[in-house]
Amino acid sequence: MSKECTDKLWGGRFSQPTDKFVEEFTASIDFDKRLYHQDIRGSIAHARMLGKQGIIPLADVEKIVHGLQEILDQIEAGKFDFSVSLEDIHMNIEARLSAKIGEAGKRLHTGRSRNDQVALDIRLYLRDELVEISAYLDLLIDSLLSQAEKNLDVIMPGYTHLQTAQPILFAHHMLAYVEMFKRDKGRMEDCLRRMNVLPLGAGALAGTTFPIDREHVAELLDFPEVTRNSLDSVSDRDFALEFMSASSILMMHLSRFSEELILWSTSEFKFVDLSDSFCTGSSIMPQKKNPDVPELVRGKTGRVYGNLMALLTVMKSLPLAYNKDMQEDKEPLFDTIDTVKGSLKIFADMIREMKVNAATMRQAAAKGFSTATDVADYLVRKGMPFRDAHEVVGKSVAYCLSRGKDLPELTMEEWQGFSDKIDADIYDAITLEASVNARRATGGTALERVKAEIERVKSGR
Ligand code: ARG
Repeated sequence: MSKECTDKLWGGRFSQPTDKFVEEFTASIDFDKRLYHQDIRGSIAHARMLGKQGIIPLADVEKIVHGLQEILDQIEAGKFDFSVSLEDIHMNIEARLSAKIGEAGKRLHTGRSRNDQVALDIRLYLRDELVEISAYLDLLIDSLLSQAEKNLDVIMPGYTHLQTAQPILFAHHMLAYVEMFKRDKGRMEDCLRRMNVLPLGAGALAGTTFPIDREHVAELLDFPEVTRNSLDSVSDRDFALEFMSASSILMMHLSRFSEELILWSTSEFKFVDLSDSFCTGSSIMPQKKNPDVPELVRGKTGRVYGNLMALLTVMKSLPLAYNKDMQEDKEPLFDTIDTVKGSLKIFADMIREMKVNAATMRQAAAKGFSTATDVADYLVRKGMPFRDAHEVVGKSVAYCLSRGKDLPELTMEEWQGFSDKIDADIYDAITLEASVNARRATGGTALERVKAEIERVKSGR
């Protein structure tokens, strides 16, 4: 047997060394080294359980725990040499442990496989990241609430088809995003709940012949439950897919928001000013201030969708249980985590610092016959069926268009020409404030309703 073969932790049955390029091609250490902390934490729990069950000597457990802690310190101090020929984080750490403490180190892998080990490591890793992502979502929700509160009475045009539809409170628009991000938080929490199950103990695929105590390991690692089927435990990546699906929806929300911010900061709209610290200039056009941050977040949405597609495609025809294909789960997963965290963080700061141009928004809200529906509702309150009212107002809008007038500019005489149900009180019924504040039912844009919603979100109900 050649020396290179025996260097491998699995070298026993091999008589020729691994091809150098194959070694590089199959290695995951370059990206899975980020799991070092989880790998060590999982190994310590596993070793303690092996000791408690009398599967390995307690003296060995102490050596293993101590050795692993030293390795942890070394990695954190940047003094650990990761080796491609040791393939992945699991074997890098295990080989180093055995080199350090000998026999005892070689007992650590008793009753365990890299298949259940990696499933555990990813769950441990993602579990912490999900808590962080939830916290970033809270930060963003806070920024939105603070903009809503700062601009409580600012009226802007609400759109459908990107055509002026009805006046709304800017705060109401911000609260729409609050709802979206609250749902994203809920999806992350759901994902966390389903993911929070210990897979270790599944072994390679069928379980283990040793009298292990999985519930004890679960307790040590803070898992409320253990998985119930060994095959599923090592072949399941649903939790990563769920996270990436939830992340795709979250990025879709950020992307829609980006699109609005980009539009709102054009010279045509001028609804908002993004702080200089979130924009860049042009190398040729001196006047430019480009909304790079929202543009990039909109762009990065593509890679998060791509990551989800990548892993779905990896998984779609894999027979049970573990297949090496599944090593391809990590890069898209890590990239999704980084992208989502970065996007949320930068958005929370950018929104907090955004300046709202109340006067411009108000001017725009007054245009485009935005209170036409209010005239129709007015007629309905005076006894006209809604369909007839719609027709009457449609005619008055056409009349206005032909005269270059706006609805509030029509004289009493002109109004009465459209319907004798219209009285002088029409003028008060179609101001921007009246329009907004008339929408008082739950979910509407009325000031009192929006204030109540802000309070509701703040009190966490
Ligand atoms: N590096 C591997 C992965 O990320 C670990 C599990 C490998 N298991 C195996 N039997 N080769 O999927």
